[in-house]
Amino acid sequence: MEGVTPVGSEGNKAGESPPSDTSGRTGTEEERKVREAGQMRPGGQVVVFPSKTAGSSSSSSSYVPPPPPTPQQITAGRRRFVKLLVGVGALLSLAPYVPWGTFLSNSVSAGKGYVRQQATVNKDTFVKFELIRLPTELGGDAKDATAFVAFSKVCVHLWCSPNYNPDQPTNPNENGYKPNQSKHEQYECPCHGSIYKVPQGLAIDGPASFQAPPTNAIPMLTLSTDSNGFLMVEKPVWDVNHNGVLGYGRYVQQ
Ligand code: FES
Repeated sequence: MEGVTPVGSEGNKAGESPPSDTSGRTGTEEERKVREAGQMRPGGQVVVFPSKTAGSSSSSSSYVPPPPPTPQQITAGRRRFVKLLVGVGALLSLAPYVPWGTFLSNSVSAGKGYVRQQATVNKDTFVKFELIRLPTELGGDAKDATAFVAFSKVCVHLWCSPNYNPDQPTNPNENGYKPNQSKHEQYECPCHGSIYKVPQGLAIDGPASFQAPPTNAIPMLTLSTDSNGFLMVEKPVWDVNHNGVLGYGRYVQQ
């Protein structure tokens, strides 16, 4: 047998005949086993690796590269891969319909979905209101509940927290700035510049003002005073025709 290449061993020296086996054929014991198994590289070259354990000559110590895949095997492999892709795609398309738990739910949709979203965000934010004493020119010096408004702290645009800003910004580039004014007196959202008019709570500037009613007015509480002059909060009715829907809006009677 020609073309035998021992790997990791010194092999036979030039001009030296390899030892014969009992059948009269030449080569080492490992070469003989490989030859008998008919495993050789194209071109007749047999590769023999040395034993892992010195002195061992078991068949597990010989490595013969596997034959290349046939065209049928390649085609079958591609089919399996395509099937896997289709299966994964089908699973992903079903993912939105699986109840993963409220911690993964952040989509806003009409009705029930909207209420579910409220429960997953910081509840404190959704129960916060800003009590504002109106400026004098709007009746803020009255001794009853009409001197106050209480707006929701959740902007109806994208749920940032607006603040009442009584003073005119000094920076002309700042949101809400108007020339030749000393007062601002609006409820304004720092995120995208929505400005709600006081005391109605209707958006008069910014993205919230472009939303259709009832999503263009901030929800608010109904205030009253008791016989002792204490300020009271009436039990809210959370729909768009009364105190509004938090983070959504309410209808404003104009
Ligand atoms: S979240 Fe308030 S203006 Fe966008």
